[in-house]
Amino acid sequence: MRFDNQTAIVTGAASGMGRATARLMAERGAAVVINDVNEKGLATVADEIRDAGGQVLAIPGSIGDRAFVAEATAQAVHDFGRVDMLFNVAGYAAYGPAESYDVWDEMVGVNMSGTYYFCREVARQSMIPNRKGAIVNVSSLSGLVAHPNDIGYIAAKHGVVGITKSLAVEWARHNIRVNCICPGFTMTGIFEAVTKEEPDRFALRARKTPLGRGADPREQATVMAFLASDEASYVTGVIMPVDGGNMALSSGWFPPEVHPANG
Ligand SMILES: NC(=O)c1ccc[n+]([C@@H]2O[C@H](COP(=O)([O-])OP(=O)(O)OC[C@H]3O[C@@H](n4cnc5c(N)ncnc54)[C@H](O)[C@@H]3O)[C@@H](O)[C@H]2O)c1
Repeated sequence: MRFDNQTAIVTGAASGMGRATARLMAERGAAVVINDVNEKGLATVADEIRDAGGQVLAIPGSIGDRAFVAEATAQAVHDFGRVDMLFNVAGYAAYGPAESYDVWDEMVGVNMSGTYYFCREVARQSMIPNRKGAIVNVSSLSGLVAHPNDIGYIAAKHGVVGITKSLAVEWARHNIRVNCICPGFTMTGIFEAVTKEEPDRFALRARKTPLGRGADPREQATVMAFLASDEASYVTGVIMPVDGGNMALSSGWFPPEVHPANG
């Protein structure tokens, strides 16, 4: 699966799934425009891609800032001529009880609105005029189901699912496909740190996952690459859990004797 002569924007590319996606797309021939609020981390990833022979442009800034997103897209179009693919990976979580949750605006402003801002800008500045585009948004299992003390993230990630479906049906006439993955627990920086500090909590999470482990970020990136590729030319509006079977196990019940972790 190659992406030669194509340009991809990847947000949240300083770490985790965004980094894995940017590196994978560059490996497979795409010019990548990478974005993150973490300027230093972004510069490191840009160096990694360049050192591996890839073509990369780093544009630091927040996806929650509508004017920044318009300028970043304009810069990508200016430097590379067009944007063929957008991977909306940037996001973060902030927990707290719903009755006193006071980071609602920031949470929805980045995770949900930021995702829409980038879709809108790449569509109007490049994909609609070129009649070609593939967008992959990153929601979460928290975009499909709920758990306590996470209202802002859950609402925003459900919003990402809604944005994906809306744009898929509206922009099909422009030959733009819009899909979404819902990762289950994935061993990015946050999870790796907590796994070390709280091994019991993560052993429990793994036991509740049919495949018995967290995903490697590259396992999310390869699915995103497929959805953006011509191999998926008839796939749009799809909300795809990439979760080691978590959603299928909706009962939350898994007899220990049949769990892979127990042989
Ligand atoms: N790791 C998981 O288990 C998991 C599960 C479900 C969904 N997700 C989602 O996957 C995506 C990637 O997360 P990850 O696990 O790789 O975490 P991560 O923290 O490694 O990567 C997220 C990146 O987004 C960046 N970011 C945060 N706010 C931003 C903003 N306003 N503008 C630009 N960049 C910003 C961060 O600096 C970070 O580099 C997120 O949307 C997250 O919500 C993660």
